[in-house]
Amino acid sequence: MEISVKVGRPQNQKSGCLLFAACAGRRHSTLLQEYDAASNGRIGQAIKRQQFTGKSGELLQLPPAEGVRGVRIVVVGLGAEKTVSGEHLRQAVGRAIDQLTLLHEESLTVVAGSFAVRNLPMEQRAEILTEGALLAAYRFDRYRTPGKTPAPVPPRRLQLLVPSAGERKAAEAGVAAAQAVSHGAMLARDLVNEPGNVKSPVWLAGQAETMARAAGIECTILGQAELEQEKMGAMLGVAQGSEREPRLIILRYQGGGANARPVALVGKGVVFDAGGISLKPAAGMEEMKMDMAGGAAVIGALQAAATMRLPCNLVGIIPAVENMPSGTAIRPGDILTAQSGKTIEVQNTDAEGRLILADALNYVRRYKPQVVIDLATLTGACIVALGHHATAVLGNDQRLVNELLKAGEASGERLWQLPLWEEYAAQIDSKVADIKNTGGREAGTITAAAFLGKFTEDLRWAHLDIAGTAWEEKGRPCYPFGGTGVGVRLLLRYLRDRG
Ligand code: BES
Ligand code: MN
Ligand code: ZN
Repeated sequence: MEISVKVGRPQNQKSGCLLFAACAGRRHSTLLQEYDAASNGRIGQAIKRQQFTGKSGELLQLPPAEGVRGVRIVVVGLGAEKTVSGEHLRQAVGRAIDQLTLLHEESLTVVAGSFAVRNLPMEQRAEILTEGALLAAYRFDRYRTPGKTPAPVPPRRLQLLVPSAGERKAAEAGVAAAQAVSHGAMLARDLVNEPGNVKSPVWLAGQAETMARAAGIECTILGQAELEQEKMGAMLGVAQGSEREPRLIILRYQGGGANARPVALVGKGVVFDAGGISLKPAAGMEEMKMDMAGGAAVIGALQAAATMRLPCNLVGIIPAVENMPSGTAIRPGDILTAQSGKTIEVQNTDAEGRLILADALNYVRRYKPQVVIDLATLTGACIVALGHHATAVLGNDQRLVNELLKAGEASGERLWQLPLWEEYAAQIDSKVADIKNTGGREAGTITAAAFLGKFTEDLRWAHLDIAGTAWEEKGRPCYPFGGTGVGVRLLLRYLRDRG
């Protein structure tokens, strides 16, 4: 999407589509009022006629008319002024983009001044508005023959209209930040949406390398032989059922001092999760191409951090494997030895995410990270607990968890904490090994985290279970069908706020 900032008044727009915002109860912002006066009260009349109330997400549309120089007007509701949040703004723009897509509009001019809520400075406002537009206009259409499958195309141009020259700089800074972060999120979406036949661990490693080269960061890939040398027995155990070799992807961004300890980001990279010998049911299995969404978020976040030149050091680790049933696959009852030396009884081969993460979380120690954050589509139980509206967060460091919770609120990618009390760990005691890889039906998200916790003792660590938030089944404002890119915006908010 082509994005620009323009200083001017909406009355001077000659073509395209103008988007205003309006709050419930106070439906006329000053800008909207002025515009209404200049267009003979057309908008005021339409508000009355269409009973537009300004509640969140509500749309009012006026087709282009002669008197107003052929401009289409859209007014989007933000809800009651007191309750308007950044997320309301983001979704308001997303709603408008969806509508304009159906109307085949090619460009959109957002009247940024009308989105003035609770003294949100122009820089942040521009960032949120741009982010909402970019996220909403995303499509994964690489495999659709152009013209043959007539899906309406989202607007290609976005113009932010700011009231005064003094605000141009701030708006442009906001646009640049939004582009960096959103491109990271869209890269993550692209990777998640790619089908399993294309998406081997080797392919994913290649994508990480391509990103790293373009962003000017370091990328190292460990192959089968190196993983064997490293004695990563848990990860190798999962990989042995697939014809496709595993890869450990290591990304490093050095934006801070040479000796500053990095923030470590670890992402589950199961390119397809058939369940292994503990095979998943057929219904819905196609969705399991998204089981590398944690890894995709790490790749997207490193790209965004590098683009923004954040003043910190980062290390991203993605264990990439495929979980398949076969004659060489691990069996229920097998015992694996992880890199840390712990032995693991495999009770269910479908609990593979925690196996590969056990080795990745242990591997990351060599970078002496300040904190470790892992992201994983780890448990179906997380969807039972929180549905699709929150990522679960658990960890052994409440300060880190609190910082992540805050970043979740600010970014719109919300988190909800589950307890990680030691009592839960009893559920993963094994009779034949140090631990087993399942904890029974109860508290499945927590026992999975407790398993990871066995490999992060004495690290400051938080785990994000994104099973419910990595994939959008229906499509809603800012989230078209498919991968959501969850984690990228959250992590960037967290990293930027740390300074
Ligand atoms: N990748 C799945 C979890 C998942 C399920 C993610 C649905 C997204 C949507 C994970 O590998 C898995 O299969 N977990 C099992 C664990 C169980 C065997 C202890 C699960 O949740 O059923
Ligand atoms: Mn699984
Ligand atoms: Zn999985």
